[in-house]
Amino acid sequence: MTTNISEEIKLRPLETSDNNQIALLANNIKIWNNVRDLMPYPYSLKDADEFIEFCTNEEPTTTFAIVYKGELTGLIGLTLQRDVYRLTAEVGYWLGEPYWNKGITSKALKLILEYGFAKFDLIKIYAGVFEYNKASQRVLEKTGFKLEGVLKKSVIKNNVICDEYRYGLLKELYIV
Ligand SMILES: CC(C)(COP(=O)(O)OP(=O)(O)OC[C@H]1O[C@@H](n2cnc3c(N)ncnc32)[C@H](O)[C@@H]1OP(=O)(O)O)[C@@H](O)C(=O)NCCC(=O)NCCS
Repeated sequence: MTTNISEEIKLRPLETSDNNQIALLANNIKIWNNVRDLMPYPYSLKDADEFIEFCTNEEPTTTFAIVYKGELTGLIGLTLQRDVYRLTAEVGYWLGEPYWNKGITSKALKLILEYGFAKFDLIKIYAGVFEYNKASQRVLEKTGFKLEGVLKKSVIKNNVICDEYRYGLLKELYIV
């Protein structure tokens, strides 16, 4: 009998002892090339410690470890928006390279949607993806997100200007 891997994927809050694994996985230019410059690179143990401390003080918790077979494989989080955008949240994620293309992030995204829509008064969860990041666009599409627009030349990464693809999922269209 084959095991459904999605049953082995869980989200949990970060723990102090996650620092080594986060630093090991996050210190990867292939991850950094696809995320905001706010994420450090090279990524040190101190960076991991500071990030974990920040997340463990979140109230409520919005950042989670993506755990596969008991191992931390990456991170996923919601950023709750403010002011007139307060009914929406942005989702962000990265996964360690050894775990890519197993369906782990797609499942993690489903889990955080479930959490986000149940816990907060949200009508939409969205994500912004650099135009060249086809894997992340695929993850969002597989999970039911729709391409809402292309923000032309809105990103500069590695000194190259590119478009941002903006994906959204409305709560009313979200199917558990
Ligand atoms: C994007 C990322 C999170 C995907 O995680 P993952 O667990 O490998 O994703 P999944 O396995 O759930 O799905 C990946 C999908 O992308 C597809 N894919 C992978 N590379 C691709 C490429 N170069 N072009 C097109 N599709 C691609 C896979 O085939 C798979 O689709 P399928 O199930 O239809 O075959 C991971 O690659 C990552 O962390 N990248 C760097 C950081 C990042 O991009 N973060 C997101 C910023 S918006």
